[in-house]
Amino acid sequence: MNEPILEVENLTVQFKKKTKLFQSAGDEDKWKRVLDSISFSIKQGETFGIVGETGSGKTTLARTLVGIYRPKEYRIKLNGKQIDFRKREDILLLRKNIGIVFQDPVGSLNPRVTVSEIISEGLPDQQRLTDEQLGKKIKEASELVELPESKLEAYPTELSGGEKQRVSLARTLIGGKKILVLDEPTSSLDVSIQAQILNLLIGLKNELSISYIFITHDLNVIKFMCDRVAVLYYGQILEQGNTHEIFERPRHPYTADLIGANLSFTSSSEFSVAHESGEPSREGCIYQNSCGKRYTACEKSPPIFDLGKSLVKCWLYDYAEKSRAGSPREK
Ligand SMILES: Nc1ncnc2c1ncn2[C@@H]1O[C@H](COP(=O)(O)OP(=O)(O)OP(=O)(O)O)[C@@H](O)[C@H]1O
Ligand code: SF4
Ligand SMILES: [Mg+2]
Repeated sequence: MNEPILEVENLTVQFKKKTKLFQSAGDEDKWKRVLDSISFSIKQGETFGIVGETGSGKTTLARTLVGIYRPKEYRIKLNGKQIDFRKREDILLLRKNIGIVFQDPVGSLNPRVTVSEIISEGLPDQQRLTDEQLGKKIKEASELVELPESKLEAYPTELSGGEKQRVSLARTLIGGKKILVLDEPTSSLDVSIQAQILNLLIGLKNELSISYIFITHDLNVIKFMCDRVAVLYYGQILEQGNTHEIFERPRHPYTADLIGANLSFTSSSEFSVAHESGEPSREGCIYQNSCGKRYTACEKSPPIFDLGKSLVKCWLYDYAEKSRAGSPREK
């Protein structure tokens, strides 16, 4: 298969905690680590899923990839080019190539401008185009997302939820972006509209050969859409690999718990209520407070074990790594 279009290695993002007046905090307590050394890569035309419960860092990842947040540590390559977050031209390169579609189309569309103006926002160099050229590009983008031409002069408030999401997509596609980060793009939509948008996304991917990073809570959507998937838990990727393989044989206890519970939820709160995990552990394996398979080794943080078809961050595969047999350690 082709070379990776995006390579992310050891990405760590942290935010400064708000401390109360006169409260002093040690250096470690000043920062909240939201993404902890995560690594993955995506190939052209691939859909890479990210699944994780509320607060696991999915949106932070999306925003970091378009340069909204500056990571603490990282090695990111876009089309083989190393990205330096301190350089403005590199941030512009990220934004030129990677677009985001948010969950809430209402919040991301300016209600005071028309659909065609919103779509044109996705063109960084629109000043250089004549009105005729710009109109042509807007029409092409709206055709791609199957938005009727009659809606181009409407305002967002006059559109249905599905149409608003089509406008968000057209705005991302008009500039010829190569990677789309879709941050729960269908979770605010009715089920029948969700299916329309998912099918549209599949068609666009095949037509334009773009890549998706598909963020969702819904495991059924992951199954339907994604070639590969990463399972994110409080900022750490605990397992990643081929979607079919992970659903057939989840290796990490957290993934198995999620799939065993057959989770398919429409909102973050439902997800976390249904999967009642304990607090993440600050020491050792992050999942140990909820893990039914925990044993003595789990007091130390596990490395990532390469099981061939998946990467798993769990001590159960320590034995498998050594023997390359692929079977979990006997307790
Ligand atoms: N700008 C910020 N400053 C400080 N903390 C932040 C900021 N953005 C996110 N966080 C914190 O980082 C954690 C991860 O947030 P994020 O929005 O990335 O989660 P998420 O997985 O997208 O959740 P959801 O499923 O609810 O959308 C949360 O604890 C959140 O409070
Ligand atoms: S490392 Fe230990 S506690 Fe963590 S998921 Fe694996 S078995 Fe469970
Ligand atoms: Mg989010």
